[in-house]
Amino acid sequence: MKEPDVLVLGSGIAGLMLALKCAAWGRVLVLTKRQAEDSSTNWAQGGIAAVHDARDSFARHERDTLRCGAGLCDREVVRQVVREGPERVAELEALGVPFSRTGRGLALGREGGHSARRIVHASDFTGRAIEQVLVERVRQHPRIRVLEDQLAVDLILDSRLRGRRAAPRRERVWGAYVMDCRDTRDGGSSRIRPVTARATVLATGGCGKVYLYTSNPDIATGDGIAMAYRAGAAVENLEFVQFHPTCLYHPAAKSFLLSEALRGEGAVLRTLDGERFMPRAHRMAELAPRDVVARAIDREMKRRGEPHVLLDITHLPAHRVKGRFPNIHAALLRFGFDLTRDPIPVVPAAHYMCGGVRATLAGRTSLPGLLAVGETACTGLHGANRLASNSLLEAVVGAHHGAVEARRQAARAARVPEAEPWQARGTRPPHETVVFDHNWDTVRRVMWDLVGIVRSDQRLAFAARRLALLREEIELDYDRLRLSRDLVELRNIALVGSLIVACARRRSESRGLHDILDHPRPDPRRAGRPTVLRAPALALRRRRRLAAPGGVGL
Ligand code: SIN
Repeated sequence: MKEPDVLVLGSGIAGLMLALKCAAWGRVLVLTKRQAEDSSTNWAQGGIAAVHDARDSFARHERDTLRCGAGLCDREVVRQVVREGPERVAELEALGVPFSRTGRGLALGREGGHSARRIVHASDFTGRAIEQVLVERVRQHPRIRVLEDQLAVDLILDSRLRGRRAAPRRERVWGAYVMDCRDTRDGGSSRIRPVTARATVLATGGCGKVYLYTSNPDIATGDGIAMAYRAGAAVENLEFVQFHPTCLYHPAAKSFLLSEALRGEGAVLRTLDGERFMPRAHRMAELAPRDVVARAIDREMKRRGEPHVLLDITHLPAHRVKGRFPNIHAALLRFGFDLTRDPIPVVPAAHYMCGGVRATLAGRTSLPGLLAVGETACTGLHGANRLASNSLLEAVVGAHHGAVEARRQAARAARVPEAEPWQARGTRPPHETVVFDHNWDTVRRVMWDLVGIVRSDQRLAFAARRLALLREEIELDYDRLRLSRDLVELRNIALVGSLIVACARRRSESRGLHDILDHPRPDPRRAGRPTVLRAPALALRRRRRLAAPGGVGL
C-alpha cells in the first residue's frame, strides 16, 4: 500500500469502525499487535446501551449515565452519544451484526445502573459477533490494509523527521515506530520501522493488564495511553478504573467474565453461607451501579475472610438460563459448574479504564495529527464511573465522528515528511525471562494490592515509590537491551500504573470509582473537574535530544 492517509493502531470496534468510515475518502492502514480478533471488543459479553423501547427515553438514558458518572460527565457528550445510539446500532445491524430479536423488535437486556431495558445484544457474546463482522468487512475493503503482529513502540513526532533541526513548540504526530513481531530472530528490534501517515488514530483499548486480576485479554497493556503521554499529550481521569463485580473465581480460569446481564435477568449475589447481601448495600440491590456492587463484594469478602462470593441464578427455569446465556453456560461447564444448578464463585477484577487520552468525542487530542477513540480516549462520557454497556456505544459514536476529524487532520498535512529510521540504542540480548516475569508480576501485584477498589493515602504513596523504582530498572533495560514485545509492554504497564497512581493521589475525595479511606466523601468543589496529567516539559525536552524516544519521569 502507498503511504496511508490514516494509520489506525488497534483492531477493536472503535478502530475498525473508524477504518471503514475513513476508507470512504482515503487509504487506511490498520496495525494490530496480535491477531485482528485479539481485542477487548471480542470479549465483551453484555451489549450496547441504546434507547429502543417506547417506555424508555433519551432523557432517562442520559440521567442514568450522569448519575453513574458522579458529577464528572460532560453533559453535551452524554446527550450526543445517547441520542445517536439507535442510529449507530442500526448501522451495525446493516453491516451484518446478528443482534438478538423478539417478535416485537430488538431484544433488550438490563444491566446495573440502568432504569430501563436497553441493552442491545447478540446472545451472550455481543462483542464477538461485532468483531467478526467488522474484521470481515475491513479485510474485504480495497482501501483498507490490515497487518497483524505489529506492535507500535512510540509515536513519530516532528522532532523525529529527517532534516528537522529544532523541535517546534507544539509537536505534530506523523505515525508510529512499529515493531514487526513476526520476526523474532532478535526479539524483533531490528524490525522496528517508521510508519508515517497524515492522521494517526490510537484505538489500542484499555489497560486491565496493569492489574493482577482482570477481565481483559492479554493485549490490554495501555499502549496508546503510554505512547500518547510520552509524546506530550494530555491524559486524564486515570484514577477511575472500573472493577467488574463478577469474574469467575477458579484456578484455571484466566479472566472469565460473568456478564452483568445475568443479574439483569435475576441472578443474585450471596455470601458462602447463602446470605443475600446487596439489598443491604443499595436500593437497586444487584442492579446498583458497578462501583457499588464491586465495593459491597470487596467488603463482604474482607469482613468474612472469604476468597469469593457466589452468583446465583439457579432459581430461574433451566431452559430460560440456557436459552439466554448459551455461551456462558457452555464455558462454565468446562470449569465444572452448571449455571442452572450451581451458584458460581465470583470475585471483582479490573475491567475498564474510564479515563484515558484526553479527547473530544471525535477523537481530537491535544496533539495535532493524533486522535484517540474507544477505551483509549477520555471523552467525558463516563465521568467517574461508566454505565454498563455504554462503552461499545461510545466506540461506535466516536468512530463515526472520528472519521470526519481524521479527514480534517489529514487535509492539513498535504505532504507526509520522511521520518528518521529507528535508532536502536540497546544491543545486549534480553536477560532471562525470569526478570521480565518478575517485573510484570510485581507491577501488577503492586497495583492490585495498593491501588485497588478501596485506596488510602498511605497505600498510594507506597505504590508510587515501588513503581518509581521498578520504572527506573525498566527504563535502564529499555536503554541497554534489544527491544522485545515483552519489554515494550512491560514499560507501558509500568508507566500507566504510575499515571493511575499520580491521578489517584491528586484526587483527595471519594467519587465514583475512586474510593479513598482518608477522604471518604465527594468534595463539591471537585465536581466537573477532571484530573489532567501531561509529561513535564523538562522530560520532553530531554527526550527530544535522545536518539530514540526514551522514558519520561513522573
Ligand atoms: C458485562 O457483560 O457485564 C460487561 C458489559 C460492560 O462492561 O459494559
